[in-house]
Amino acid sequence: MSMSLNDYLRAQPFLRGTKNACGEGGCGACAVIISRPGGQNIGSCTNNCLAVNSCLRPLASLHGWSVKTIEGIRHKSQGAALQQQFSRLNASQCGFCTPGMVMSLSAQFANDKGVDTKGRAFTKASLARSLDGNLCRCTGYRPILDAAESLVSPEESIADLEDVVEQLKCLKPTSCAHDSRSDREGGPQNGSAGIQDDVCDSAALNSCASHFEGFCLEDKEGARWYQPRDLAQFWSVLGRHPAATVLCGNTGRSGVYKQDKEEDLALAALDENLALANSVMVSLQDVVELQGHSWDAATGWLDIGAGLTLSELLLLVGNLPEDAFSSHVLRDTIISHLSRVAGTLVRNAGTLGGNLYMAKSKNFDSDLSTLLGGLEAVVHVVGGPRQKEEELSWLEYLNQGNAHENNVETARRDILTRIRLRLKTPHTGTLSDVFQSYRAALRKGNSHAFANAAFRASVNVATGKLENICLCIGALGMPALRAIETEKAWLQGSAESVAVHEDAFEQATLEAALLALRMEIAPAHKTRYRYRVDLLSSFLYKFFLYVKDRVFQASPSLRSSTAATSPLSARLRSAAIAPEKHVALADTEQTYTRRWMEKVPQVSRDVQNDANSSSSTSGGQNDHLPHVPLPKDYQGFQASGEAEYVSDVLEREGTVYAAYVKSPRSVGVLADLRTAAAKALPGVVYVLTAADIPGSNDSAFSLGPPDSVAPDTVFVPLGGRVLFHSQPLALVVGISSEVARRAAKLVEAVFEGFEAPIVSIGDAREARSLMGIRDCVKRGDASSVLAAARLEHENGDPESGLGGELRFMEGKVRAGFQKHFYLETHTAYAIPDEGRMLIYSSTQAPQAVQEVVARVLGTPMNTVQVKMRRAGGAFGAKATRNLPHAAAAAVAAKVLRRPVRLTLDRATDMQLTGSRHAMEADYAVAYNSATGLIEAVKCEIWLNGGFCADLSFTPCHDLAANLEQAYFIPNFDASIEVLRTNLPTSTAMRGPGVVQASFIIESILDNVAARLGSHFTPEEVRRVNFFRQDEKGEGASSSMMSTGCLHMPATPVSHFTLPIIWNKLTSSANLEKRREDAHSFNRANRWRKRGVAMTPVKFLSSLMPMQATVNAYPDGSILIHHGGCEIGQGIHAKSALVALRALAKVGVLAPPTLDMIQFADTNTDIIPNGGFTAASTTSERACAAIDAACQELVNRLKPLRDRLLRNKENALSPANSLEGTGHDGDGPDGGDRPSPSISWVELIRSALSFRESMDLCCHAQWRPEPASHYHNYGAGLSEVEIDVLTGEVVLRAAHLLYDCGKSINPVVDLGQVEGAFVQGLGFFLMEEALIASDGVLQSPGTWDYKPPLLPDMPSEWKVALLENGNFDKGFLSSKASGEPPLILSTSAMMAVRHAVVAARTEIFGVGSEAINNFRLDAPATPERIHRACAASMGRLSLNGTAGERAWLDESPLHQVDVAVAGAGLGGLALAIALDKLGLSAGLFERAAALRDVSQGLVGVTPNGLRALELIDPRLKDFLMERGKYNTEAFTKTVDEEGKITERYVQFEANNVSIPWADIQHSLARLVPRSMIHCSHDFAGFDECEDHVTIYFKNRVETARAALLVGVDGLFSVVRKGLVPIPEGRGDEVCESGHTNWNAIMNPGEASLPYPHPVVSLTYQKEEPPRFFFMIECGHGRILWQVRVDDPGKAFTVAPKKGHGRLGLTGVKQRILDLVKDVPDVQPYIAATPEENIFERCLLFRKSLQRYSSPGRRVVLLGDAAHAMHSVRGQGANMTFEDAHCLGLALAAKGVGPAAVRVFERARIPRANLVQWESNTYYKRQFEKNTSHTWALKFLNFQSYVADFHKHEALPAHLL
Ligand SMILES: Cc1cc2nc3c(=O)[nH]c(=O)nc-3n(C[C@H](O)[C@H](O)[C@H](O)COP(=O)(O)OP(=O)(O)OC[C@H]3O[C@@H](n4cnc5c(N)ncnc54)[C@H](O)[C@@H]3O)c2cc1C
Ligand code: FES
Ligand code: FES
Repeated sequence: MSMSLNDYLRAQPFLRGTKNACGEGGCGACAVIISRPGGQNIGSCTNNCLAVNSCLRPLASLHGWSVKTIEGIRHKSQGAALQQQFSRLNASQCGFCTPGMVMSLSAQFANDKGVDTKGRAFTKASLARSLDGNLCRCTGYRPILDAAESLVSPEESIADLEDVVEQLKCLKPTSCAHDSRSDREGGPQNGSAGIQDDVCDSAALNSCASHFEGFCLEDKEGARWYQPRDLAQFWSVLGRHPAATVLCGNTGRSGVYKQDKEEDLALAALDENLALANSVMVSLQDVVELQGHSWDAATGWLDIGAGLTLSELLLLVGNLPEDAFSSHVLRDTIISHLSRVAGTLVRNAGTLGGNLYMAKSKNFDSDLSTLLGGLEAVVHVVGGPRQKEEELSWLEYLNQGNAHENNVETARRDILTRIRLRLKTPHTGTLSDVFQSYRAALRKGNSHAFANAAFRASVNVATGKLENICLCIGALGMPALRAIETEKAWLQGSAESVAVHEDAFEQATLEAALLALRMEIAPAHKTRYRYRVDLLSSFLYKFFLYVKDRVFQASPSLRSSTAATSPLSARLRSAAIAPEKHVALADTEQTYTRRWMEKVPQVSRDVQNDANSSSSTSGGQNDHLPHVPLPKDYQGFQASGEAEYVSDVLEREGTVYAAYVKSPRSVGVLADLRTAAAKALPGVVYVLTAADIPGSNDSAFSLGPPDSVAPDTVFVPLGGRVLFHSQPLALVVGISSEVARRAAKLVEAVFEGFEAPIVSIGDAREARSLMGIRDCVKRGDASSVLAAARLEHENGDPESGLGGELRFMEGKVRAGFQKHFYLETHTAYAIPDEGRMLIYSSTQAPQAVQEVVARVLGTPMNTVQVKMRRAGGAFGAKATRNLPHAAAAAVAAKVLRRPVRLTLDRATDMQLTGSRHAMEADYAVAYNSATGLIEAVKCEIWLNGGFCADLSFTPCHDLAANLEQAYFIPNFDASIEVLRTNLPTSTAMRGPGVVQASFIIESILDNVAARLGSHFTPEEVRRVNFFRQDEKGEGASSSMMSTGCLHMPATPVSHFTLPIIWNKLTSSANLEKRREDAHSFNRANRWRKRGVAMTPVKFLSSLMPMQATVNAYPDGSILIHHGGCEIGQGIHAKSALVALRALAKVGVLAPPTLDMIQFADTNTDIIPNGGFTAASTTSERACAAIDAACQELVNRLKPLRDRLLRNKENALSPANSLEGTGHDGDGPDGGDRPSPSISWVELIRSALSFRESMDLCCHAQWRPEPASHYHNYGAGLSEVEIDVLTGEVVLRAAHLLYDCGKSINPVVDLGQVEGAFVQGLGFFLMEEALIASDGVLQSPGTWDYKPPLLPDMPSEWKVALLENGNFDKGFLSSKASGEPPLILSTSAMMAVRHAVVAARTEIFGVGSEAINNFRLDAPATPERIHRACAASMGRLSLNGTAGERAWLDESPLHQVDVAVAGAGLGGLALAIALDKLGLSAGLFERAAALRDVSQGLVGVTPNGLRALELIDPRLKDFLMERGKYNTEAFTKTVDEEGKITERYVQFEANNVSIPWADIQHSLARLVPRSMIHCSHDFAGFDECEDHVTIYFKNRVETARAALLVGVDGLFSVVRKGLVPIPEGRGDEVCESGHTNWNAIMNPGEASLPYPHPVVSLTYQKEEPPRFFFMIECGHGRILWQVRVDDPGKAFTVAPKKGHGRLGLTGVKQRILDLVKDVPDVQPYIAATPEENIFERCLLFRKSLQRYSSPGRRVVLLGDAAHAMHSVRGQGANMTFEDAHCLGLALAAKGVGPAAVRVFERARIPRANLVQWESNTYYKRQFEKNTSHTWALKFLNFQSYVADFHKHEALPAHLL
């Protein structure tokens, strides 16, 4: 019963046009159109045709419905105009998304005709909206939208549109379930699917009298589908099947919770309850009580059935009369909010009830829930404990405790029946109803929110008084809630003041509300904690300003009299007022040179049409073929869904299906595989393991150096090592994919021992985990120049200009992993055939498949045949990453002697396939401040290579070879090292290495430009550094030689067209004006900023050999074979033109036409050794080989032609000679003039006649000239706008100019340019592969991984190919277009940087160096942009200027960039310094410090005051202003000997003393509630059976422990919510009051107000086992959990009562004792040499870092400093200098090589540092303990930093 419509369709041999690319509603490739009986009547509109995701739609739910698939609206011949436009306008590249696109658009055309019968109501925006759930990875969407628009543009015949509508007419819904059979009569081939007999009508609830009578279906296995018609029936079914699964649209169950569903289905074999749940399904979709709607004009209430879909609600709201709403703003806000929920396809099926129920039962981050909360909706609920329907406020109901779904005991689970909304408040008069909703997400469409909010306020416009507010926030991993405290804080501003309306909108009120919000919310999400909190502050700020603005607008009488109603400044309106709507692709233009179309009328009518209609400029100097814009899908098969992909190949009889058993660990030795449960599952055929492999268990195909190649096992053998998470361990083969997948989940893997994985670049560098693949480039002497520059920079005074012109700069660049995300996942179909093996593989390298399969089978290569017709996208991942899958399928086929199909689901594909290499680079630059010339660059670059070499040499080498990009830098020194980690192997991806190279070098150029000031724009700096040209326009130099694995020789920078491109684009894109406009915009808008940037590309392309075979048949038709693979790049569309051109040279009257040319599948039996389809040049190479083969054919035919002509002429007139017949070389391209008398077909027939018996199968191998590398050039301009408050970005404009040489097929090349650019946008702006520090991919699907969608496209997009007829290197003067244009997207990243700079200028002030001191890693997600803008809460003010207190910013842990541990001297110093660098810093030490900070108090040592004065006198003033300086020591710190070592002084604001209850309360808000519980049950150190704890009593020990676990870990505890609270504890313990640990530990000191934090360590038996660190912060306890993956014996760490004062040695001994029987833990603790405590700490830290928080850089100070001392055994406190030194050193860790600048910003002369370094007193102190080199390192700043870098291991996802 769980069969989806998609599974059903794809199981039909002729219905495979409907694709499956994700199976979770995230891509739209599976879209079909369904129609329900009677249609949907919403208001005045009837929607008959619904485009939905067939992958989410249960087949059974369509009983009685009609379904239209792409097959039902085939090609032009059948009247489908839309498909024809798709193929005509080149809107299909790989074509995998195309059927889905066509279906989505068709539904809209068919439905929306109500607006305008002629369809003219369609706008680009409305068409784009219908595609907001359809993903295309190839095209850049522009041609798709063009194709849609072409049907409705006034120039086109409207008849075409009517065609589309007509096509859908046959969707005649049936009135009764039985009638659906009539749909089947035509058979599924006609694209209208009906429901099969075998699922129909048994045990009907009612005897199926009518569809609406309710029914039940039963399948062969006895699983049932109930579709009751009313609630009575529903309860009756549920009464009989209490465990049944209840669903409605099924988008939640199969989409949002797909993994859970699959897990459930698998476990159903073992769990009776789950089996029951899955065998009975009850659908709510026809329940009458859940349908319909009504609107009461009198009361303003809208009543909606919970069974309505989101689309229906949207329609409904849109159709209500204007006066149904308080204002049109309310209506627009609701519509705009709902339009951003999922995509159209999901909205068409997902219901309100389903969405809300998920919010209730699973804490789903619902947008609807928050919206309803803000609208103060009420819901009707029935069931559960209630016996009758009840009306409840939505938020009340939501927060009432969880509903447990499908629980037997709650058979009467809650059902939401109706939702009631008041859209208009009854009181009008003076009250104004203000409503706004907000959300921020990674992507504009189909992307769930990071946080959302819906705010409503009632304002008395007469008085300006705020009467009422409702602030609802959500998407925080917990139920949406009303921020009651915040509402109070805001309203209090109103209520407590005399002049009410004045205070409601004052800065103080805003601050109070923001602070209250900050204290009130604690997102339950483990990720992006701080960002989410910041977002909510931003939303509140926006709303605050919006309401203020509205009051001003609505209350003219108040304007002059009150401050509150002063106008909002225009600058601030940028926060309050929604920006002008971004309309993607509103203005597009594609330009290329028109060639010789009119002379080749026979090419095709479409080409002709296209050429005529294109916005071509005229060129015309090469008036011959090819150079013709022949669209890629010129045969239209892709658009019609007829194109066959590997997963569509019809299965042979007896085919079985396979699924992997994946490793649950990232690293470890596989001890056993328990397969019994899997084998027992019905339908399982075999479980294949490494032992079954007949040949070599190695699928590696690496061209790297031999020492880098490690085996890439097909399956990890028993006793073998797993090297990455999800690595295949075995293959389950079953009678269906579903059976195989379920069974695979039942296989249990057992491991020996435990190892921590190496995940990040930091990990790998620390462990020296190298791949053996490295490269370097060198020119001149960079080191010397850099040394000179550094000296000059430091000694000179740049401002006075006395110090020379050389300047020095350092920086760091980081980019993350990018997934290929081709739409067709990896797939292989292996068919054994008389000792041979036929493999269909979705590949870019059939030869590699052949080689690997032969190796694995242990057979010769000639027994393996590999075939492929086309791949649904590849982008590099199908060069080698498909090999293991082909090998696995082949082994299974061989063992089982039957065909085996292996198709990876999306999650498995993403887990196994790896990605583009993550990169980290440190650079140093010397530049000339007068000329802007870069004098020297030195770079150290690391790439994360994953577990094996694979193709890592490619990015490594390409990065080296392209690092300099377009710039001639005389002194250059770069090294690139690939690191080995426990991740799936990184592999080649479009532009491998080059996009990283561009990012590094353009960041350098940008940073230099920023430091040069206003007399140089970044573009000028770029231009002056270009390769110089000689008088012939050639670059004067060669590119650098890389000396790594490929030893690529230096390539001359020839045909250097970049300066021309640069100048052209500067003027065509209006760079100067655009920049000016952006400046003006930025000046006028405080919270929205624009950035404009232009960047070049220089890309080295290499050519490799290629073969082709051309066969001519007697009818004149031609079949071409070549070694390239069609992966969407249009290789055939180029090759066809080349073949036409070459064959035309035969000189006949009617040369072959396009329709006479066919391309055969790529096939290793026919074209062996074809190599890789890669490096962008395969099309050129194929063209060259085809040209050569055709030439051979022509050469063979020409003598015959001459003979035939002669015969003919002789026959006609013996007197005639050959002269004047046309074969004299005067024809096009040197060919002969057409003969007047011989046709092509005639010639071929004669050649194949018995008499001639000519061989017309011509084969050619084309080889490039030696060193035939060439450079590609282009430039891109991007203009972006960011929302500073959310970090969201829109691409306003993109202008691209690319030199394609003489393009063979301009329309195909343009498509490549656009598609590549968009893929680059994904890399730079939104595609973030999140990998946890345990190596587990956190984003294995469309829910978390977001490639760009149509709404993300630029609004203005102009793309042009350079007219360049002078390139004489490539084939027919053409150049590659597949990869180089991707690099143009660097311009978007740089534009974002510029916008961020504009935002930072507002904060730091013009001229401040802090403006440019920030790092923006790729992808620049909204979170990163927001952080880089440094727009934290303290900066949200009403005057639009930076808040004074920004550095302090009431910082709870989660608000800051850098958490500074230790609110002492060093901490304060550091906080200021960091703030000046633009990083927000929070001071944290203990609960006490938290309290202080949150209350505006700061504890500071006397030394601290000195430091503050030294650093920034304003700081001391600030503190003095804040409170009374109380010199009385109120607390103290004692060292281990009990000596008082430190006294604190306190600033106390207005002498307010804060009761503990408040502190507890505030902490409870800072720390997720579940994590705080008081230890009232604590009674010493009891050793329980399963839980004993060591308590670190005093500060030094605490600090030690903190270091041990890593303070960053400590903080992440706060953020991540990992701690399970034992049953029955939680709130109850939280309320039980605070335990003063000091009182327990030191009874004499019980009165101390600041108890020290206590850290405890617990290891608890669990499955899997876990490690806990428990940090007691005064009254609260925070647990830190560490998972140890293997089951182990329970052990606990337990000092006996009174052992609290364990020294480190004691602790260690204790731990050793306790863990000696636990092998898993051994390596962490016992195996570490005792002396090397720091290493031990690091080991701990590394394991614990797996849970460290993303993005947080933590500086250890204060306690950490103590810890350092303790580690050294000194026990002394840090002093000002060394604490400061340490702080700054560690700050340097956070901000990279800008460390020195920390001193500069802090105005600490560097000389002081030197002084500290040579301070003999401290030296002596440290030297006393020479056994610890750390002591000395403390004194040596440089080496300390270096050392820290060595040890540092940052979370992988940052890489
Ligand atoms: C790709 C994708 C993107 C999405 N993006 C967003 C987004 O951005 N924002 C957002 O808010 N949502 C988003 N969603 C969620 C989507 O809105 C919900 O999946 C949908 O509304 C659920 O409705 P359904 O009828 O399909 O529920 P089902 O999947 O059928 O059911 C879900 C649960 O609700 C229960 N249920 C259904 N109806 C009722 C009822 N009337 N009373 C009680 N229980 C009921 C079912 O028993 C089940 O437990 C997205 C979903 C997908 C697949
Ligand atoms: S396959 Fe259905 S949405 Fe992706
Ligand atoms: S053409 Fe759209 S995904 Fe390939």
